[in-house]
Amino acid sequence: MKLLQDKIMQEGIALSDQVLKVDAFLNHQVDPVLMAEIGKEFAARFRAERITKVLTIESSGIAPAVMTALELKVPVIYARKRKSLTLREDLYTEKVYSFTKQEESEVSVSKKFLFAGERILIIDDFLANGEAAFGLARIIEQAGATVSGIGIVIEKAFQPGGDKLAAAGYRVESLARIASLGEGSIVFADERQH
Ligand code: G4P
Ligand code: NA
Ligand code: NA
Repeated sequence: MKLLQDKIMQEGIALSDQVLKVDAFLNHQVDPVLMAEIGKEFAARFRAERITKVLTIESSGIAPAVMTALELKVPVIYARKRKSLTLREDLYTEKVYSFTKQEESEVSVSKKFLFAGERILIIDDFLANGEAAFGLARIIEQAGATVSGIGIVIEKAFQPGGDKLAAAGYRVESLARIASLGEGSIVFADERQH
């Protein structure tokens, strides 16, 4: 997505060869005009999947997920993260390990909002190792619903998450794919071939 790539080039900062800082428009300050365009793009790519609900994870997935759900005219759920291990029977819960943060968290969604037979679109801001997306997929599958697609704003294509999700059979659409990061350099990769 050209608009997003331009924004990344203008306002993104490669903090290292691993981490891209985009707090000017996605992770802290949010650009609503860009988010609206991102929502339109995801909706166009997934409209034929007859999505019934969008699922994301707090906090930075919420902005692109809401704009996508608005376009598709369906509800959006954001999974909640917490550290404590309190088992609750009214929640679907999965453990997600973050290699970036080196910590495990529990991700959960209320059983009130996710039903068997639903066609769910997962949206997230970043894709690195794929742990968050796999955790959300497991929650959807626990509910007896279907993962109808995974939409990612920025995929770090040099990390394994995208390939692992595709190998698991999920359709992954990333609006920007980063091939490499370096001091003052951001290089994009081509779109994933289906
Ligand atoms: P994974 O799910 O793909 O395995 O990713 P990982 O655990 O490594 O990511 C942990 C957190 O770090 C996530 O945010 C993810 O969005 C973010 N992240 C990973 N790589 C980058 C990067 O290069 N740049 C930025 N800006 N973020 C990155 P989170 O902890 O869930 O926080 P939130 O922002 O959603 O609240
Ligand atoms: Na994030
Ligand atoms: Na996220």
